[in-house]
Amino acid sequence: MTVSEADWWRSAAIYQVYLRSFADGNGDGVGDLSGVRSRLGHLAHLGVDALWFTPWYPSPMDDGGYDVADYRDIEPVFGTLAEAGHLIAEAHERGIRVLIDVVPNHCSDTHRWFRDALAAGPGSPERQRFWFRPGRGPDGDEPPNNWPSRFGGSAWTRVTEADGRPGEWYLHLYGAHQPDFNWDSTDVRTEFEDVLRFWFDRGVDGVRIDVADGLVKDPALPDTAPGDETPYSDQEALHDIYRSWRKIADSYPGGKILVGEMWLPDMTRVARHLRSDELHSAFTFDFLVCPWTAGRFREIVTRTLRSHEEVGAPAAWVLSNHDVTRHVTRYGRSGETGFSFADRRHGTPVDRLLGTRRARAAALLTLALPGVVYLYQGEELGLWEIEDLPDELRQDPVFTRTAGADPGRDGCRVPLPWSGSAPPFGFGTGTPWLPQPASWADLSAEAQADDPDSMLTLYRTGLRLRPGLGAAALTWLDFAPDILAFRREPEFTFILNFGAVPLPLPAHEELLLASAPLADGRLPSDTAVWLRG
Ligand code: NOJ
Repeated sequence: MTVSEADWWRSAAIYQVYLRSFADGNGDGVGDLSGVRSRLGHLAHLGVDALWFTPWYPSPMDDGGYDVADYRDIEPVFGTLAEAGHLIAEAHERGIRVLIDVVPNHCSDTHRWFRDALAAGPGSPERQRFWFRPGRGPDGDEPPNNWPSRFGGSAWTRVTEADGRPGEWYLHLYGAHQPDFNWDSTDVRTEFEDVLRFWFDRGVDGVRIDVADGLVKDPALPDTAPGDETPYSDQEALHDIYRSWRKIADSYPGGKILVGEMWLPDMTRVARHLRSDELHSAFTFDFLVCPWTAGRFREIVTRTLRSHEEVGAPAAWVLSNHDVTRHVTRYGRSGETGFSFADRRHGTPVDRLLGTRRARAAALLTLALPGVVYLYQGEELGLWEIEDLPDELRQDPVFTRTAGADPGRDGCRVPLPWSGSAPPFGFGTGTPWLPQPASWADLSAEAQADDPDSMLTLYRTGLRLRPGLGAAALTWLDFAPDILAFRREPEFTFILNFGAVPLPLPAHEELLLASAPLADGRLPSDTAVWLRG
């Protein structure tokens, strides 16, 4: 193996497959492994280096699979373990690596361990694997502390004991069907080490770690002030867990990789988990909440690169994922605050042409930055958020737990359009589990494939040219406050015009790629270019 092969994860383009919505191979309206196998050609042609599959394990799907019932099998709606093996092998034949999601913070309440814990009762070793506590108040009918669930409401639910009486409460930082594991338990630690080996032995090349900052809790379970996550986020003991995982990853020839999902307010805290004997990388989520200004983008890139350089880790750029409003829609909203994923602002007018124009420029930016880039399925097609899903079809627990105040994340999870002029757009033969809009006809992969001006062509070209950028660092170029520009040696210049006034391009040898046509040789508003020379 050459050095560059061993270091593939430092500069990879990684495509996120949200399995339920990628492609349906058996006609039941839900995406599955055979659907992915049939579409590997699309992914190879797109030019990605690896796939990240959101959870594919048996699950009641109370949270789209982030409620795992069995960590060593495949959800029957998605396929079988044998089929996962075929998919991994076929991806490898095409030179595409495979990452899977591991969900170590919580499981499904249908997981055997949680059922055992309910049956075994208070004080049992089975309950030690979770966070069971008596309630507060004279009758124990108040939650043990004031922690909020990230999906709304309290983070505690009370159980009914075997004798039929109201009993202890269990902790769930997410939905009530997702009990949190107690990582002080040796059983939990050894279980997940074994789960990692199970999948690494089956050829998986790495894992994306769900809620990677949240596993360890302050055992005193103290009340917190609103917004303070200290007792259950980024606790020091996490580092030991990931050091032991890294040893397992490194014990395989060529190594396996560990990618953390850590929404921490301070990037230097994330970087502390990326030291050479801990995680390989962690997502930079800051673009998801960044207003469309040159200054803010520059600040994020500078801060991210600096904090990562200190620990020798690559940055990992993200514009969209299955938890946030698709960026065509975010960028199509006017005003300073409309870019936040948390501030979903359903019903706020969206200028899709503007959003698409900016999304094209943003794609060229992330593809040109040093480090890893993550693509969320459908962004290569320029899909937008579906905001008018009928409420009765919404499945995200966020919608129900907030009594509809937050529409939830279904709007970015609508099944992909592959071909044809009407739904289901080649997604499969059945009715898709969420309805696709008729207006996606122009956005199907088939409709875009041969169009030189399509989003798909832009991504394909960008991904083809990108490896040429190598590992070179970035040097900022100062044109004007509304211009984001940098150079990467040798001979590569990136420029994005966030302002209204077209910018005369500097001298260059070749225009490699532009996100929109130039105007008399000048770079118009919301447009990016890649220049050689
Ligand atoms: C983060 C995942 O990306 C999200 O989809 C999920 O709901 C939560 N973690 C809980 O597992």
